[in-house]
This record gives sequence, structure tokens and C-alpha cells, in this order.
Amino acid sequence: MAAVLELIAGSYEQIAFGYQVNTDGEEWTAKANFTHHAHTASISAAAASERFVVTGSKDETIQLYDMKKKTEHGALLHHDGTITCLEFYGSSHLLSGGEDGLICVWSTKKWECLKSIKAHHGHVTSLSVHPSGKLALSVGTDKTLRTWNLINGRSAFIKNIKQNAHIVRWSPDGDKYVAVVNDKVNIYDLETASVTGTVTNPKRISSVKFLNNSILAVAGDDEIVRFCDLGKEKWVCEFKAHETRVKAVDSFVMEDYCVLELESPTLLGEVNTTARLTCLAVWKPSSVQQTAEEPASEATTSEELAQELSKKKRVRIVAEEVVLEDESKPKKKKKGGGK
Ligand SMILES: *[C@@H]1O[C@H](CO)[C@@H](O)[C@H](O)[C@H]1NC(C)=O
Ligand SMILES: *[C@@H]1O[C@H](CO)[C@@H](O)[C@H](O)[C@H]1NC(C)=O
Ligand SMILES: *[C@@H]1O[C@H](CO)[C@@H](O)[C@H](O)[C@H]1NC(C)=O
Repeated sequence: MAAVLELIAGSYEQIAFGYQVNTDGEEWTAKANFTHHAHTASISAAAASERFVVTGSKDETIQLYDMKKKTEHGALLHHDGTITCLEFYGSSHLLSGGEDGLICVWSTKKWECLKSIKAHHGHVTSLSVHPSGKLALSVGTDKTLRTWNLINGRSAFIKNIKQNAHIVRWSPDGDKYVAVVNDKVNIYDLETASVTGTVTNPKRISSVKFLNNSILAVAGDDEIVRFCDLGKEKWVCEFKAHETRVKAVDSFVMEDYCVLELESPTLLGEVNTTARLTCLAVWKPSSVQQTAEEPASEATTSEELAQELSKKKRVRIVAEEVVLEDESKPKKKKKGGGK
């Protein structure tokens, strides 16, 4: 039986492509299922949940597609600038970041903006939600890496990284994260929030994806995709993926393909969209993680955050507008809510 799997790609030509992948047989085939032309400028970001695909654009909108009904589901209008990053948390929330410096937290039930956070002075370039759903990381053109408590929308701590990182990602276990600056992957430890290692790609990096908690796939301005072992800080595998540059890399887990081999992988299939692609998402309704709405409290240091992440608590998400406070003022430390 063919798995339900669809590849979504955004393009400079304003069009989002959907390809249904037939995974029967040795060679996979991709069949065009839809093209959406809802944006009026190039597409800059894409993400998929169990039910929805979202694309963000230079036209400052986020377009929604209902993958079950295969229909357009409207647009999310809140940002005042190019949408730079989109990430679902489970099937309940979507986070968006933009060149307006905002991070918005959207409920996927009514598609309302639950929180609008003034996250960076300058652009938000990338964000990543911790696997627990309690906090998120963001990087921006103000040379900072910020940690967000997703419940109160406040900054938990700010790290001046002295350079503009353009990608930030939590590892699947949430014990470490990576921040990418040009051709360098800096590996951070959650508890100390300090760099524990750095690996350098031969070219500027465009996209990274954790394959498991220690192997990171890295792609950039050459035709090669490389796998890095973050523990050893070593490249362990590489293969030619495209003719010139690689814009985006993604991965997913499928039964029958559960062993990660560090040998040159086999090409299962390819498709020529004839467009200049900018971003990629995999829609696979059967592989969705469960959402835990367990927020962090007012942790202000990375050690406190690490401790918070191991606690269990249940708090309702409330809608509120949050503005970034002047971080030069010392923050008041609150007592942990009844703990
Ligand atoms: C797209 O996929 C849906 C659901 O599988 C199917 O009903 C529809 O016919 C497909 N459309 C095209 C143009 O292949
Ligand atoms: C990740 O995959 C590699 C290659 O299969 C394996 O050697 C390694 O132990 C895995 N690491 C984790 C943390 O699962
Ligand atoms: C994709 O298709 C276009 C138009 O048919 C063609 O010009 C181009 O060379 C193809 N690209 C690849 C990599 O096959």
C-alpha cells in the first residue's frame, strides 16, 4: 500500500507545488497534485502539519492550505514584512517569524494570533520550538539568540552571539541546539547555553535538518548534502544531491526505512518542477507528534530553563499581546506558581 506522502515546494515564481509521492517499488514516483498561486511575490518559507500546509512570502502574507480537503483556507495577515520562518508545533499551534521582527503564535483551531511578540530589533531570521513545546529559540539580524517562554510570550534569556545567525534548530531530544552563521554550525548545550563545538561547511549553509539526536544534515551553496556527527564534530557522509546549489533539505521517518545508514543514500526519486525553488516541506499526516501544553515558568537562566523542562505542569494558553521589554532593565524574578 502506498504511503500518503506529499512534497510541498515554494518558488520564486510565487507558486507552491504539491507532489504526491508513490512509495511503492524501488523507485519512487512523484505526481503533481496541485499548484497554488495565492501569493503575489516569491515564497520564502513553508511548513506542514497533520492537516495544513502553510507558505509565507515576500508579499507579507501566510497562505493556508487544507490538505484533507485540498482547498485554500485563507491567509494570515499580521506581519508587516517578508515572512522568514514558519514552524508548526504538533497540530495545535503555528509560529511565524518575519522581517518586521515579530514572532506570532497562531492557534490552528480558529487561526487567530494568540501572541504577537516583538522578538528582535531587525529581522527574525529563524525560529525553533523545543520538543516539549514550552519554549522557542529565535535568531535575528540584531546578533542575538533569544529564548522564549511560549506561554507568557516573554524572553527567558538573551544571548549576544556577536554575529547574525540565519538558522537555529533544537535537536530532537531538546538537550542541545545549533545556530548557523554563514558556513559554520555552532553547537550549544541547553544547560550552559555555551558553544560546545563548531563545524564548518565548505560553503554558506542554506538549510539543516536533524536526522537523529546526533546526526545533522547540512546543505548549502554547493551541490553536496553532508551529514555531520555533532558529538564528534566530524562529517560522516556526503553525497551529490543537485547540479548547483541546494536550497532546502528535509527528512521524515517511514516504517521499512528506519535504519539511518551513514553511507551514500540511494536516490529514490526526483522531480523537475521547472521553477526556481526556495523552500520545502513534507506533508505526512500519519507521523504527527503529540502536543503537550506544558509551559515553562519564569526561568531566566539556561540552568533554570533546563530544570523547568524536566518539571510537569499544566497551564492554559491565554491570548495576549506581548511587547518585548527593554532588556537593559533587570527583570524581576517571579516565584514559581505555587510550586
Ligand atoms: C490530489 O490528491 C487528492 C487526494 O488524494 C485527489 O483526490 C485528487 O484527485 C488529486 N488531484 C490531482 C490533480 O492529482
Ligand atoms: C544516529 O544515527 C547514527 C547512524 O545510524 C548512529 O550511529 C547513532 O548512534 C544515532 N544517534 C542517536 C543519538 O540516535
Ligand atoms: C527541467 O525542465 C526544464 C524545462 O523542461 C529544462 O530546461 C531543465 O533542464 C530541466 N532540469 C533538469 C535538472 O533536468
